[in-house]
Amino acid sequence: MLWNKKNFWFSWLLLIYFLLLFNSCKENLNDQNPPLEKDFSKAPEGFPPIPFPPDNPYSRAKFELGRRLFYDKILVKDSSFKSCSHCLKQAHNFQDNVPNSIGYNKIPEPRNTMSLTNVAYFDKIFWDGRGKRIEQPAYRSLFLPYIFGLDTNELQMRLERHPLYPKLFKAAFGENARPSAWLVAQAISTFVRCLVSGNSPYDKYVRGDTNALTDSQKRGMKLFFSERTKCSVCHSGFLFTDLQFHNTGTTQHYFDFGRYYVTGDFRDRNKFLTPSLRNVEVSAPYLHDGTYKTLEQVIENYNRGGFPTINKDTLIKPLNLTQQEKEDLINFLKSLTDWEFLTNPDFAEPK
Ligand code: HEC
Repeated sequence: MLWNKKNFWFSWLLLIYFLLLFNSCKENLNDQNPPLEKDFSKAPEGFPPIPFPPDNPYSRAKFELGRRLFYDKILVKDSSFKSCSHCLKQAHNFQDNVPNSIGYNKIPEPRNTMSLTNVAYFDKIFWDGRGKRIEQPAYRSLFLPYIFGLDTNELQMRLERHPLYPKLFKAAFGENARPSAWLVAQAISTFVRCLVSGNSPYDKYVRGDTNALTDSQKRGMKLFFSERTKCSVCHSGFLFTDLQFHNTGTTQHYFDFGRYYVTGDFRDRNKFLTPSLRNVEVSAPYLHDGTYKTLEQVIENYNRGGFPTINKDTLIKPLNLTQQEKEDLINFLKSLTDWEFLTNPDFAEPK
């Protein structure tokens, strides 16, 4: 090819172009701001900040470690199921879809598994409120013979021999950290505190999107918050629970005395923690014993004013709902389903 004037200028232009390109890459590398990464410690609009305890603050590395452990067979003695997620299923609002969950040794839980969704905001956990913070069950589950059935040495050995975990524990807890039961519980608790759901059609409606609810759901919402049904007296606030204990007369004979086992107070017999109603559409079966299979059955019980039983709450009275009103109430409960949360890949098993 002949070297002419046109080629000469063209080469110069090309050179300048590459120099500019190189410089802009360099700038990017030196950028002071790290790339934007997801912050799972942020609460949805209208929710208070997620309360992380000072002795176990949020970090992305801890979240990722906790998430991996939540889904890992390594925590189960015979590795026959995927640890926490075996009974706490994302598609079912991080609870189980059977009345009694079955862990290691195939021993069924005596009560229906409660949801982990929004549990960061609960000041008491379990149907009888005996739990105080998430770290407790996260730690105890490792060793209970009917949950994971491990022992400390076995757990430590398994995690230390793993190709990934020693590095992940260092990333989450510092260079000197070695895998231990306590750190497992801390990491899992961090992941669990981030399981916050607040993007249902109802939430969108509250934030101003008047089209987020159907007409039936709007009618159901009015009923739910009315003096007549009193649903929102117990299912109150952004969590749809007052975090108190009540009896709703779901049966005449209670085999489980609930809160009574914690306080020993006869007035607490047959009382259970008001469950949150968020994502209740996907969390059947219902109640502390999982005896009601459908929302229709639950509404029917409120409509009849419950069965006569010891300590039934004075708020539970016959409602005389029409068929349409029952349907509206159920449709309103379905407006509390946050599909984004239930299908969010960030909370699913890591690849
Ligand atoms: C006196 C307080 C109180 C009132 C009023 C009340 N609830 Fe409940 N609700 C509870 C308690 C406590 C439970 C759990 C009972 C149990 O497990 O035995 C519950 C359970 C439920 C459940 C099942 C949730 C689950 O995950 O198992 C639904 C659905 C429900 N209530 C909806 C309603 C609706 C709708 C109304 C109004 C018609 C209402 N509640 C009124 C306290 C109340």
